[in-house]
Amino acid sequence: MPPRTVFACQACGHVSPKWLGRCPECGAWNTFVEERAAAPAVSGGRRGGPGLAGALAAAREPVEPVALCQVAAGEQPRLETGMAELDRVLGGGFVPGSVVLVGGDPGVGKSTLLLQVSQNLAARGLPVLYVTGEESAAQVRLRAERLGALVPGLAVLPTTDALQAAEAIGRYQPALAVIDSIQTLAHPDVASAPGSVSQVRESAALLLAVAKRLPVVLVLVGHVTRAGTIAGPRVVEHMVDAVLYFESPAHHAYRLLRAMKNRFGATHEIALFEMQDRGLAEVTNPSARLLSERPRGAAGSAVVAAVEGTRPLLVEIQALVAPAPYGQPRRVATGLDLGRAALVLAVLDKRAGLHLGGCDVYLKVAGGLRVDEPALDLGLAVALASSHRDRPADPEAVVIGELGLAGEVRSVQRVEDRVREAQRLGFRRVILPGGNVTPALAAVAGELELVPVRRVEEAIAAAV
Ligand code: TYD
Ligand code: MG
Repeated sequence: MPPRTVFACQACGHVSPKWLGRCPECGAWNTFVEERAAAPAVSGGRRGGPGLAGALAAAREPVEPVALCQVAAGEQPRLETGMAELDRVLGGGFVPGSVVLVGGDPGVGKSTLLLQVSQNLAARGLPVLYVTGEESAAQVRLRAERLGALVPGLAVLPTTDALQAAEAIGRYQPALAVIDSIQTLAHPDVASAPGSVSQVRESAALLLAVAKRLPVVLVLVGHVTRAGTIAGPRVVEHMVDAVLYFESPAHHAYRLLRAMKNRFGATHEIALFEMQDRGLAEVTNPSARLLSERPRGAAGSAVVAAVEGTRPLLVEIQALVAPAPYGQPRRVATGLDLGRAALVLAVLDKRAGLHLGGCDVYLKVAGGLRVDEPALDLGLAVALASSHRDRPADPEAVVIGELGLAGEVRSVQRVEDRVREAQRLGFRRVILPGGNVTPALAAVAGELELVPVRRVEEAIAAAV
């Protein structure tokens, strides 16, 4: 009997017995490719589950659950990468035995980042295996020379065979194994082409099993498709412990590393890097970097304090309000949620007497960053009011606060971190929700003046 084939969506992994033009799971068009069906699961449970009788029959050796209080906590020491920013995004470095997926557009710098990390670990005497399916060993050497001194503990294996890669990891037992990239690997027992969903899934599963058994830290590099998801390996995303995305905001020199999933740390944690001619350099003071080009004394600009992951980040919000000469006024938000902007506009209209209904409104987060948090509402309101009145907002002030629909300013979380960041960057005032001001916060603020506000009009009066 010829092997049964199925059709798998290359975007999300959805499987269908016949070819479909549009995937019913993720809605992508023309993504179905014929693949050999995966071997049936060993337990063979049918749809709906085998029921209690089946589960009992399937149970083999009796195993004893352990009282939770008697489980050894086993907090393992983290493997530091030699890049403090990357360590923070990982939650303090690699966890031994963990598997991390690093995704990003081609050319964003994934190979560079991982080769730097590999060299850092090897320089500390830890064995590292760098499996490359994209470049030759000589090309990796050239790149490594450019990034720093060559170290003997770093081994390179050019291969596209998943079995060879897994075997080498098992034999070499490195502290860190990098697979660059998962899409170039193929498992010889799987018929479909490299990069297809079943190849990626099978190769990743094999490597994962080896990595968990040893244990080594396994990093899988994945390319992103135009649709914005890691091609094929969406199936990999839920097999791994952490998913990091490496992005390059359009038209900006820096690179942004963002944790989308992390079993061992905070998600939405971000780190900024800059691509230089000797590899990636960490931007250790991103707030200062993001504010460096802020125009002083220009109307329509306000500085807000966002929190991304565990890190407070000061960013500049810019607003431009202009009369709409004809037709429907335009509403454009870059780096911000348009829904949030609409809410702030409605509150300003109804509660603060700022009628922008007949105006075009453009809003953007300077520096190409994307932020979305209720704590930014008040900063949006101040930037809009400042542009509308054509009067600059206080350049020495940071604005924090969520807006309620009645125009009230509501408390935000993590206010101490935000205030500390404002103080660190030398601001003089923080306009913030009255409900957030406590003696403890005043102690944190020190010289920084705290301006408590309860209503949106108060905040505008204080800032503009
Ligand atoms: P790369 O790490 O190959 O990207 P990816 O693996 O995500 O596809 O990065 C390639 C780009 O980075 C390429 O345009 C050259 C540039 N680059 C530098 O600017 N400086 C360097 O030191 C290196 C190694 C690369
Ligand atoms: Mg690469």
